Amino acid sequence: MNEEKSKLDESRNQYEPKIPSILKNSFSRIVIKEGEKSASISDTEKIKEHFPRLYGMPFLEFIEGESNEEAEAKKVGVVLSGGQAPGGHNVIIGLFDGLRVIHPESQLYGFLGGPKGIFTEKYTQLSAGKIDSYRNTGGFDLIGSGRDKIETPEQLEASRAACAKLGLDALVIIGGDDSNTNAAVLAEYFLGTSQKTVVVGIPKTIDGDLRNERIEISFGFDTACKVYSELIGNICRDSASARKYWHFIKLMGRSASHVTLECALQNHPNIALIGEEVEEKNMTLQQIVEYVAGIVSKRAEAGKFFGVCLVPEGLIEFIPEIRKLISELNDILSEHDKYFRTIKLFSDQQEFVNQKLSRDSSYVFSTLPARIQQQLLYDRDSHGNVQVSKIETEKLIIEQVSELIAEWSAEGKINEKISEKFKTQSHFLGYEGRCSFPSNFDANYTYSLGRCAAVLIACGKTGYMASVTNLVSPAKQWQAGGVPLTSLMNMEVRKGREVPVIKKALVDIKGKPFQIFSEQRASWELEDKYVFPGAIQYFGPPEICDAPSKTIVLEREKPQSSGE
Ligand code: FBP
Repeated sequence: MNEEKSKLDESRNQYEPKIPSILKNSFSRIVIKEGEKSASISDTEKIKEHFPRLYGMPFLEFIEGESNEEAEAKKVGVVLSGGQAPGGHNVIIGLFDGLRVIHPESQLYGFLGGPKGIFTEKYTQLSAGKIDSYRNTGGFDLIGSGRDKIETPEQLEASRAACAKLGLDALVIIGGDDSNTNAAVLAEYFLGTSQKTVVVGIPKTIDGDLRNERIEISFGFDTACKVYSELIGNICRDSASARKYWHFIKLMGRSASHVTLECALQNHPNIALIGEEVEEKNMTLQQIVEYVAGIVSKRAEAGKFFGVCLVPEGLIEFIPEIRKLISELNDILSEHDKYFRTIKLFSDQQEFVNQKLSRDSSYVFSTLPARIQQQLLYDRDSHGNVQVSKIETEKLIIEQVSELIAEWSAEGKINEKISEKFKTQSHFLGYEGRCSFPSNFDANYTYSLGRCAAVLIACGKTGYMASVTNLVSPAKQWQAGGVPLTSLMNMEVRKGREVPVIKKALVDIKGKPFQIFSEQRASWELEDKYVFPGAIQYFGPPEICDAPSKTIVLEREKPQSSGE
C-alpha cells in the first residue's frame, strides 16, 4: 500500500461507521431470536436433497436481552469473491472489530486472491496495524479477490483441510449470488464431514441483484450507482450545453437492470432501456431500435439534436431472438469447448458455430456486426454465463439507430437533416464505480454486516447470510440477524446440469421503482428534465450524505391507505 495518502483518504480512515443500536450492546446483551422456519423459493424437495442438514433452518433476529452464549476467542477466515464492490474492506474491518469486541484474543485470517486462496492455502493473518489504513476505503486490495469456484470434490476437500489445518471456527464468504451458493455448499459439506468451521455469507455486488424481502440490498450498489449518476449528470449537462451529440451510456450490472433503473431515477435521461421490460414486452432488437430512433427523430424535429440514452449491459440477454442465440451458443461452446479453442481464425469460428446453430439463430447471428459476433463467442465466465460487460451493446444500438434514421430520411419519412445531424458518443460506465470510497450508506452498511457476521459466528450459526435490514431508516434503527442461505435458492440449469443456486433478483416491472420510472419517462423524452446529483458527499447533513438509493426507498414505501 502506498504510504502517501490523499487528504480524503486520511479523513475517511477516521470516519466511525454508524451501526444498528443492537450491535452496540455487549455480546452478553445480544440474544438471537429464532423466527419462522425457512423454505426455499421453489423446488423444495430437490433443495432439501442437496442440503439435508441446512434445509429449513429458522430466520434469525438479534434482540436485546440476557444471552446464555459464552464469549469465546474465535479463529476466523474471510474471503472476497467476484467483482469489486465499495465497502468490502469495511466488512472485513467490522468483522475484525466485532470478533475482538466479543473476545480480544480472536484472530482473523484473510484468504488471498479469492476462493482459490482457500483451497491452495494462501492466506495472511490480519492485525489492527494491517487493516487500519483500509477503514472506509474502496477496493478489495487488502486481500484481493478472484472468480474461482469451490466446486469439485477435490476443491471441497482441500478447502475443508485448509480450514482444519488453520483450526478455523468460521469462514466468511463475501460475494454475490453464486459465491453465496458456494458458501451453502461448503457449510453443508463441513457439517457432513464433522468439520467444526461454520460458514457465513455476506451479500456483495454492485449489480443489486442479490436482494429480496429479507436481504434489502447487496452492498456496493448504492455507491456504484451514485458514482455513475454523478458522471451521467455531467454528461447530460455537456449534452445540453453543446447540443450536438447523442450520448449512449452502457452501464454495468450483468443481467439485471437495477443499476440502470436507479441511475434513470437519479438523472432523468431522455431514454433508459430496461432489460426486464424488453423481455416482458417480447421486444425484438428491431423494435428497440425503432423506439430509440423515434425519440431521436421527435427531439430533432423540436430542434434538439442531442440527448442521453442509458443501456444496461445485460439488455442483449433479454432480447428474445438474441437470448435464444446466446443459449444455443452456450450449449455449443460448452459441448465443444476443447475443439473450439483450437480454432484460431474468426471466420472458421463463425463457420463452425453456424453449422451447429438452429436456422433461426444462425440467421440472427448473421445479422449482427462481426465485432458483436466475436464478442458473443468470448470465453464464458466460471459459471458458464456470457460476459455481458464485454459486449458493446451501446455501439450496436448506435449503429442500428443510425441506419434506421438514414433509411427513414431516404424514404422521406423524416427530414434528411435529422440523419446528417445524428452524431453520437458512446460510454461504458462500470469499473469506474466499483472501487470508489464507499458512500456513508455503504460504509455504515458494510461495517454493520461485518459486526453482524461476528455475532452469528460467536453463536455458532452456519449456512446463514448476515442480514441488516430497515435500511431506509437511520442506521441506529437498522435491525440485524441471519437469513438461511437455502431460503434464497431454487434449481436452475447451469452448464447443461440442473443445480441449486441462489436466485438472481431481476427488476420487478410491477414494483414501485419501475412504475415511477414508467410514469415519468414520457416527459423526460422531449423536455430536458435532467437531474444532477453531483459527487458523493461524505461530510454534511445526513439527508445529503447518508441517504440510501432511490430504488430501495421506493421499494419500501408503504402504500398510502385510502383514508389518509
Ligand atoms: P459480481 O459482483 O457479480 O462478481 O460482478 C460485478 C460485475 O461488475 C458485473 O456488473 C460485471 O458484468 C462483471 O462484474 C465484470 O466482470 P470482470 O470484473 O470479470 O470484468
